[in-house]
Amino acid sequence: MMVPTDEQRRCIEYTDGPLIIVAGAGTGKTTTLIEKIVHLVNKKCVHPSRILAVTYTVKAAGEMENKLRERLGDKACGVFVDNFHSFCFMVVSEHRATLGLSGEIRIMEDTEKSVFMADVIRALSPPLQVLSTFPRVYDRVGQLCGFIGKAKSYLFGPDELAQRLEETKDRLEKKEYLELAEAIRVFLEYEKRKKPLGLLDFGDLE
Ligand SMILES: Nc1ncnc2c1ncn2[C@@H]1O[C@H](COP(=O)(O)OP(=O)(O)O)[C@@H](O)[C@H]1O
Ligand SMILES: [Mg+2]
Repeated sequence: MMVPTDEQRRCIEYTDGPLIIVAGAGTGKTTTLIEKIVHLVNKKCVHPSRILAVTYTVKAAGEMENKLRERLGDKACGVFVDNFHSFCFMVVSEHRATLGLSGEIRIMEDTEKSVFMADVIRALSPPLQVLSTFPRVYDRVGQLCGFIGKAKSYLFGPDELAQRLEETKDRLEKKEYLELAEAIRVFLEYEKRKKPLGLLDFGDLE
């Protein structure tokens, strides 16, 4: 078994509140996290089912599960280990009625999202004017998906963005204002159309 460094030990044994560990790759963060879980279960009598371990990737979640099993045996089964998107999907799925998502919910992969977005743009009435889709609508799709993804990462919905745009209108060039207004119109329509179909994109889970 590995012997933690003094610094790792302090992290492992600290239980007085939230703790963030910031360190470079390969410096022992995951190891520390695993030993922290072991400490909570074996020394602090925390029930494994009270512990949630979320990773970025599916692979990392699998590795964490294996290491916990090595260290905790059967008790490791109680710890909920999952990757970020899968865990968030589960939470959204559980609360889908509250979120106005009907029936089965599903995540759109990037290609499907692009096709869906192109349909949204083509169906807009009146059509886009400033953000022209000439010569090909797909040239705009990537840009608008990027815009929407970024808005979501800041937890802004289309209504809130529209309100902010009006607040900052005086400080924007007319062209810039019109472009943003159109991008927000696409965002609004995109959300409106995907909701009743139970569709989500990755941005919805982040
Ligand atoms: N205190 C320690 N003593 C010996 N080896 C360690 C120690 N802490 C971590 N390691 C080893 O260092 C490597 C990287 O650790 P890991 O926890 O995966 O780093 P990180 O998650 O920060 O990228 C692993 O092989 C791990 O077993
Ligand atoms: Mg790691």
